[in-house]
Amino acid sequence: MTDPNRSGSPEPRFRRLLVTGGAGFIGSCFVRDVLARHDGTAITVLDKLTYAGNRANLAPVEADPEQAARFRFVHGDIADPALVGPLVAEADAIVNFAAESHVDRSILEPVDFLRTDVVGVQVLLEACRIEQQRVAAGERPTPPRFLQVSTDEVYGSVDDGASREDDRLEPRSPYSAAKAAGELLAHSYFVTYGLDVVVTRGSNTYGPYHYPEKLIPLFVTNALDDQQLPLYGDGLQRRDWLYVADHAGAIGHVLEHGGAGEIYNVRGGNERTNREVVATLLRLLDKPWSLVREVEDRPGHDRRYALDGSKLAALGWTGSVSFEAGLAETVRWYCANEAWWRPIKSGEFESYYRRQYAARLAGSSEAAE
Ligand code: NAD
Ligand code: TYD
Repeated sequence: MTDPNRSGSPEPRFRRLLVTGGAGFIGSCFVRDVLARHDGTAITVLDKLTYAGNRANLAPVEADPEQAARFRFVHGDIADPALVGPLVAEADAIVNFAAESHVDRSILEPVDFLRTDVVGVQVLLEACRIEQQRVAAGERPTPPRFLQVSTDEVYGSVDDGASREDDRLEPRSPYSAAKAAGELLAHSYFVTYGLDVVVTRGSNTYGPYHYPEKLIPLFVTNALDDQQLPLYGDGLQRRDWLYVADHAGAIGHVLEHGGAGEIYNVRGGNERTNREVVATLLRLLDKPWSLVREVEDRPGHDRRYALDGSKLAALGWTGSVSFEAGLAETVRWYCANEAWWRPIKSGEFESYYRRQYAARLAGSSEAAE
């Protein structure tokens, strides 16, 4: 099958990538997919290996000698300028996935979100600025491109219609406020210093290798163990679901073709209520609705996200995975990969789970179907 989103040229525009946060969910998919193209691209992953980072997500790359030869892993923090500087100096482009990424954790403890999602971005941008000065001094031919992976959550809750790239930002959680600050800083480096910066705003992403704290992987793994499924509030909140390989592919497309200083929404085109998502995954798992518990709502819970994807479509990219096909593949992956998620659901996860859900589940009620 030909990929409608490929440029047609086998030559990548950037041959040496620094992928920060590349051991996480979407970043590791990007790394696996880019290296599997076998087009000569070399990738250095810089990752702090927080609770969400996992070297096992990159095992397929390390198991293939040809891909492993074009891959390097560096354990460290994007907010550490001494570590970041030399890595940016040897890169043609930086793709920044590194973030604290879970809204519920940002409500419990916001400080790490500021350190990584704001200060970390600024450290990466400063390193790019130094490289731009080296270009001016004749020490490198071109400055690096910087792609900041942002989120639809920066628009805040959208009652109706679909957010466009020039809509006002109204983030409402510590997570989305930090992500907005990070991408605004990135844009400011384009305006002020002329850095080659592009931003993507992706919608809710799902698929294999997803840390089981977000709605879909948490509910799939809980349901496999016949554990309760804590549905916040009335469950009628709406999200637009984007399959992880589509999200990673869109980021690759923007990296190659996006205009400097531009922002691109990455929509899934699969808007569903949380209730609809849960009903579909229970059907796929052949598990009963009686597992679902209606629990106390998330504070400040955004009711709906929706993106207008026409700008990215005009650049030549549209997603190709339907929600039904993507969810079926995701469920199949979690069923086949217990060895990946069972160890994760102990230790740190258990204490987070108690903190987030023990009181909620104790005060929960049966969720009407
Ligand atoms: P994730 O939490 O699975 O992965 C984040 C990765 O960043 C982990 O490997 C972690 O170890 C690493 N990391 C965290 N802090 C770091 C630091 N200070 N230095 C270096 N590495 C660090 O997140 P994800 O779901 O893969 O999301 C990736 C990016 O996409 C994030 O920027 C997120 O805001 C954005 N995004 C996610 C979604 C979604 O639905 N998951 C949707 C839109 C945008
Ligand atoms: P989540 O996967 O955390 O993504 P986000 O908050 O970034 O959209 O949540 C998706 C939706 O599912 C959101 O409306 C909150 C809801 N949700 C629950 O109802 N119960 C849960 O345990 C979780 C984690 C999420």
